[in-house]
Amino acid sequence: MDTQQRIEAAKLTESENGMLYGEYLQLDKILSAQRLLSEVHKATVPDEHLFIITHQAYELWFKQIIFDLDWIIAVFSNHMGLDESETLGIIKRLNRIVLILKVLVEQVMVLETMTPLDFMDFRGYLCPASGFQSMQFRDIEKKLGLRLENKSLLKPCDQNKDKEIQENSKENDLSLAELVERWLERTPGLEENGFNFWGKYKKNVESLLNMYYNATLDAKTDCEKQKRMADYERRKATFDSVTDIKLHESLVQRGERRFRHKALQGAIMITFYRDEPRFSQPHQILMLLMDIDSLVTKWRYNHVIMVQRMIGSQSLGTGGSSGYHYLRSTLSDRYKVFLDLFNLSSYLLPRGYIPPLSSQIRSQINLYKDYISQTNDDTSA
Ligand code: HEM
Repeated sequence: MDTQQRIEAAKLTESENGMLYGEYLQLDKILSAQRLLSEVHKATVPDEHLFIITHQAYELWFKQIIFDLDWIIAVFSNHMGLDESETLGIIKRLNRIVLILKVLVEQVMVLETMTPLDFMDFRGYLCPASGFQSMQFRDIEKKLGLRLENKSLLKPCDQNKDKEIQENSKENDLSLAELVERWLERTPGLEENGFNFWGKYKKNVESLLNMYYNATLDAKTDCEKQKRMADYERRKATFDSVTDIKLHESLVQRGERRFRHKALQGAIMITFYRDEPRFSQPHQILMLLMDIDSLVTKWRYNHVIMVQRMIGSQSLGTGGSSGYHYLRSTLSDRYKVFLDLFNLSSYLLPRGYIPPLSSQIRSQINLYKDYISQTNDDTSA
């Protein structure tokens, strides 16, 4: 059978069984969507083809991320509390988002094969188009829980785009960060009249700090004593910032912390007891959320390095921002949605100081599902 005969046979099978590859994927639309502006201006720059394909590939992956994020958000939005039978599904999808982001971080390198001079040849045709106007990117940021102050950087002539972005995102929808915060607040074991994890944690922090303080008294020389005292004071200030609710709230107000105090307690508790069967999946979820945050930051970093290489650090962006300098500012901690999870390690205790679980809480967390429905009954009563 020659090639032509094989195509004819495939077409026959298509009409009998359904559709062909190209039709199913609507490749006619996707593959005809690369319009080189340099070609339109009769000065074709071949690398513009790569530039368009790269952006389109990004947008397709953004679409998949949004699709999976929507599913995760819907599951977390359950007012009865997270249905435990869904946690594996959440982990599967978070993990997929992590893997896609890894591809997106690496993909920057393909575009770096274009030289700045080639880019200069067609950049002028793009203005004012910019990745800054990627509504899907903004949507991902918003669904994750980033506050979108940067929108004000859009140029006045782009205000319509700004409106479009706002209209497309329902203001009242809770972000993943807000939903995770609500979920963490329900961590079993936090109740003051039950296991009272926080009461036990504070007591053990006190013993730990006493141990450090006593170590300063044992120092043999003044110099050693000063060093130990400075170390003690630094540790004390760190723990105070989490045990003193007022201090915590002032940090939240300054934007240096985000979660409500109870949610932070839940995250610390899950981190301590992650080996308990009922806490191991919640712990995986926390790790994956941090992976997402770090990969978005890594993407921002790779992108900004590429931008500097292509347009330098003095040119304005086609979207109207200060370009390189604006993008550099997005690498700061303010752009980490799950910053509190990254900082958890500062509040951990050495193993010997972790409050042991009582048999009651052990059985409680092994009956987590029943516990959640009981709590809901209690609060609605
Ligand atoms: C030659 C390659 C590229 C250059 C020179 C470039 C340049 C820039 C600049 C200067 C900005 C700041 C906004 C402005 O335009 O004023 C920006 C933002 C952005 N670019 Fe690119 N970009 C490139 C490739 C890409 C690619 C491949 C993507 C993939 C989708 C992308 C996505 C974005 C996004 C999402 C933003 C907004 C970032 C934020 O506000 O945090 N860019 N880009």
